[in-house]
Amino acid sequence: MSETWDNLVAISRELTDLGTAAKLLDWDKAVMMPPKGATARARAVATITGIAHERLTDPKVGETLDVLLDDDSLDDDQRASVRIFKREYDKATKVPQELVFALAEVSGLAYSAWTEARPASDFSILQPHLEKMVSLKKEQADALGWEVERYDALLDDFEPEMKTSEVVSLFEELTSGLKPLAEKILDAAGEPPEFLTAELDGENQKAFSDWLVVKLNFDLERGRLDQSPHPFTMPVGAGDVRQTTNVRKNDFRSAIFATIHETGHALYEQGLPEEWADLPIGSVPSLGMHESQSRLWENQVGRSRAFCEFMLPHLKELFEKELGSLDPGDFYRGVNHVRRSLIRIYADEVTYNLHVAMRFEIERKMFRDEVDVADLPEVWDEAMERYLGVRPPDAADGVLQDMHWSIGALGYFPTYSIGTLYAASLFKKANEDLGDLNEDFRAGDTSRLLGWLQEKVYSQGYRYSAKELQEKVTGRPLSAQPFLDYIDEKYSEVYGL
Ligand code: CO
Repeated sequence: MSETWDNLVAISRELTDLGTAAKLLDWDKAVMMPPKGATARARAVATITGIAHERLTDPKVGETLDVLLDDDSLDDDQRASVRIFKREYDKATKVPQELVFALAEVSGLAYSAWTEARPASDFSILQPHLEKMVSLKKEQADALGWEVERYDALLDDFEPEMKTSEVVSLFEELTSGLKPLAEKILDAAGEPPEFLTAELDGENQKAFSDWLVVKLNFDLERGRLDQSPHPFTMPVGAGDVRQTTNVRKNDFRSAIFATIHETGHALYEQGLPEEWADLPIGSVPSLGMHESQSRLWENQVGRSRAFCEFMLPHLKELFEKELGSLDPGDFYRGVNHVRRSLIRIYADEVTYNLHVAMRFEIERKMFRDEVDVADLPEVWDEAMERYLGVRPPDAADGVLQDMHWSIGALGYFPTYSIGTLYAASLFKKANEDLGDLNEDFRAGDTSRLLGWLQEKVYSQGYRYSAKELQEKVTGRPLSAQPFLDYIDEKYSEVYGL
């Protein structure tokens, strides 16, 4: 093995270690830290990420990468690591240091303005900060470079190698199929059943989550499940994948489906090849691919009739009084109840992607200079009406509902839907390869599916871009059709359409 390659491995290892330290501090902040620790913690994280940035942008790293890019003795996997590392290096060095600091600063200010603006339902509190943020993100996109449109540079941070034009056509296919389908389903859905808001004991809900992750083969010797207000999954380091869930007293669907969602993310992380743990190739290829796994496990598995039938008896044991007489069919229909909602994070799997599509449309217009930040509340309400047929009563449940824009996560939203499409496409292929999985699910046995995903997706790490991986596994280019077929088939049966 060449000395230059060993150098790259050493740099990569150091960056991994600094990442582990920063992630653990962040995990602790979200799960354990008392509120008054926030200021010191923010500084500690900034110090560590600053050191990591210096290490990454060291000119010696660039020289090492240039040598390796021309090294014919490397194998395909090493070459993939060099390619990914080079992308990161270029991105980190192209953006001027002042701009990086300015973005970090405005993100802190805009986020705290958002935490004030939302409860007050007053967009004007956020507006000046968001204007600054959008203008800095434009500068950043221009520094990174783009060919067709500026949004390409933003998207590339989250869905590497996918272009805005591709996302536009995916969303066209998705929304033109989904809107009429959703209309039909919404007309038939009626009011949500009462059992969904039954008040269930929090400790027993936690016990259910603990039981569930074990049934889904989450390895507790290489991971943890904790509670946090916003569920998330964080790979701290090799052999240590943290996931959290959230118990809500009057909505037990959170403890079930947020847990399955995060377990999907966590299984992916636990399935990455450990021998590549310190190398770029040992990571996931995109946020969309990551989200495909959370959605596949949450929706295609967790919300299937068969898996609901598996879960219900255990729920009845824990909540005899509240759910003891619940019919399995009613349980299945209830947890899949579809309605016109204002809030994306509470949306069902049918309407969810319409929430995402309207955000993508608005973001793209902002970066084509077709929408000003000042006009966002109006633009938002109009889009909600067009996509979902509801008009928010106020800004809190409208344009202020998500924190993403305030922290500069622009170009992020579409990955939720790209993930949905990857999930449906992969699940269709899994069924073609493995045959009907419903009998497995009814018995709570997801091991055949997990083995398939392990072989086809998880063990591949970042060998290929997400787009390439999807095509390689399914033999088909990404399309919205498998998702539309899945929704049509499932909900036609649920609502007798
Ligand atoms: Co997720």
